[in-house]
Amino acid sequence: MSKDIQVAIDGPASAGKSTVAKRVAKRFKYIYCDTGAMYRAIAWLALDHHLAMDDTAAISQLAQQAEIEFKPGEEEQRVFVNGTEVTKAIRGNAVSKNVSAVAAIPAVRTEMTRQQRAIADKGGIVMDGRDIGTTVLPHAQVKIFLVASAHERARRRYEENKEKGIHTGTLAELQAAIELRDQKDSTRKVSPLVQAADAIKLDSTHLTIDQVVDQISAIITKKINN
Ligand code: DC
Repeated sequence: MSKDIQVAIDGPASAGKSTVAKRVAKRFKYIYCDTGAMYRAIAWLALDHHLAMDDTAAISQLAQQAEIEFKPGEEEQRVFVNGTEVTKAIRGNAVSKNVSAVAAIPAVRTEMTRQQRAIADKGGIVMDGRDIGTTVLPHAQVKIFLVASAHERARRRYEENKEKGIHTGTLAELQAAIELRDQKDSTRKVSPLVQAADAIKLDSTHLTIDQVVDQISAIITKKINN
């Protein structure tokens, strides 16, 4: 039996957090929680209700009443909000463009943090996001801050989109969008993207996914055996 611990993986957009977190969770038989998907689900709800993104009171109320569920799927985890499946819809352009505004609303963050802690209470967990090591799970035994250059992150996203047949513009446009999102996520007032003092920084620019997974797994194994 391996010991159940909390693993927080934070970092900027498209650094590979979810791919890596998913694989690490599988290796240790831990729960995987994609907190970005939760903010995306709230942005989707706000768009579905035709709310203006500056209507913070209405969006906060939606978040407080939202029931977000993760269910195992064949290839990826399926995401549901208030019973509607939004797995694909939350990856579309409309949500991607508006999610930073939604994630900057303090009451939305308070509610998501509450829901995320409830998920983490269920057992060993790998949670990825922006503020997991700093705010959501400040006592996580393993904290990783995963980074990669903006160019490399854009390149990976471009290839991924091409493979999935999603058209999201040129490589340069993708890089510009990623840099804009980084800037918004790092400068917002509530829980900005910052490295926790006790997090280990991993730069994946020149590493394969397997290498990153192996490095994080080694850190977890050491912690479990300590
Ligand atoms: O990781 P992602 O691209 O799916 O995240 C979507 C948005 O949600 C992004 O703008 C950052 C924000 N986010 C956040 O503020 N806090 C988290 N814990 C996770 C994501």
